[in-house]
Amino acid sequence: MIVNPLARIRSIKVKLSVVIVAAVATTLAVNEIGLALNFRAGFRAGVAAVIALGMVQLMARGMTSPLRSMERAATQMAAGDLTVRVAASSNDEVGRLAAAFNHMADELAAVDTQRRDLVANVSHELRTPISALRATLENVVDGVVPAEPTLLRTMLAQTERLQRLVGQLLDLSRLESGGSPLHRLRFPAADLLERVADEAALHSPDLEFEVAIEPADLAVDGDPERLHQVLGNLVENAARFAPDDTTVELTAAERDGLVVFEVLDRGPGIPPEALTRVFERFYRTDEARSTDEGGSGLGLAIARWIVELHGGRIRAEAREPAGCRMVVELPA
Ligand SMILES: Nc1ncnc2c1ncn2[C@@H]1O[C@H](COP(=O)(O)OP(=O)(O)O)[C@@H](O)[C@H]1O
Ligand SMILES: [Mg+2]
Repeated sequence: MIVNPLARIRSIKVKLSVVIVAAVATTLAVNEIGLALNFRAGFRAGVAAVIALGMVQLMARGMTSPLRSMERAATQMAAGDLTVRVAASSNDEVGRLAAAFNHMADELAAVDTQRRDLVANVSHELRTPISALRATLENVVDGVVPAEPTLLRTMLAQTERLQRLVGQLLDLSRLESGGSPLHRLRFPAADLLERVADEAALHSPDLEFEVAIEPADLAVDGDPERLHQVLGNLVENAARFAPDDTTVELTAAERDGLVVFEVLDRGPGIPPEALTRVFERFYRTDEARSTDEGGSGLGLAIARWIVELHGGRIRAEAREPAGCRMVVELPA
């Protein structure tokens, strides 16, 4: 393939100028030669036009072909095929547009995969308790087992689990679509942590919950209900994994212009490869899957959305010798 002399130019306008100047020069040259050889004006014009057109064809080659392939690709994508990409080789605006187009196609494909995964996960998470409920109900209806209070209680627990899951899904979808604005206030960090610790102590009488705030009158700028939801989930997780008679610590401190909350436990901790993944929807470590307790792995995904809506960040860290440290940083 002949290398296009214009391939390196980064601007369509410059390329067109070069092509026009070259075409004019060719026309002039052909005309001069024709004059010297005493050709007629019509013949001179004809030959000049043919040569100039051929040269434009040669030089402008590849300038617009990415546009045509983008048009084809866009049509295919609209029809649902997100695997198409366009060949982008030039350095000019069209080439960069083609590269941006490919980037957009990658993003769309990723979102599409996520959506499919989400639907699959949701269906799976809903099906499990529904199947269990149905099997039990069938046995009761068929008279195989009597409708005893213990049985009804497990069925109630399954129903509650379903309700919690649906509630969390709705919450997540509202947060993601921006349909649930924050009601920001300035309030004492102590109120928040004490409330979360008291509630957790009710549910986990075998654990100690310790609150430490530095400075004691530290104020937080945020939506109290939403932040309660975040810390409540972190403490609930910590309490689920912490061994009996250990302490779960809740701390708040001011650091480098940030309000930093931490929830620390002495449980098994999160394996290093899962430290970022636990914030994905439905992600649970093997440790968590092996127990029947806990939710569906949406809690930390919701927590991350809420923290990010506040302009903050959340992360999980390992503790020595064992345990988990959850860190939430909010702008002060
Ligand atoms: N304190 C913790 N110690 C160990 N693992 C944790 C802790 N907190 C969260 N995890 C892991 O992160 C997963 C996701 O947490 P979360 O989104 O709250 O879901 P869920 O509580 O419904 O399991 C948990 O299933 C667990 O595997
Ligand atoms: Mg949780």
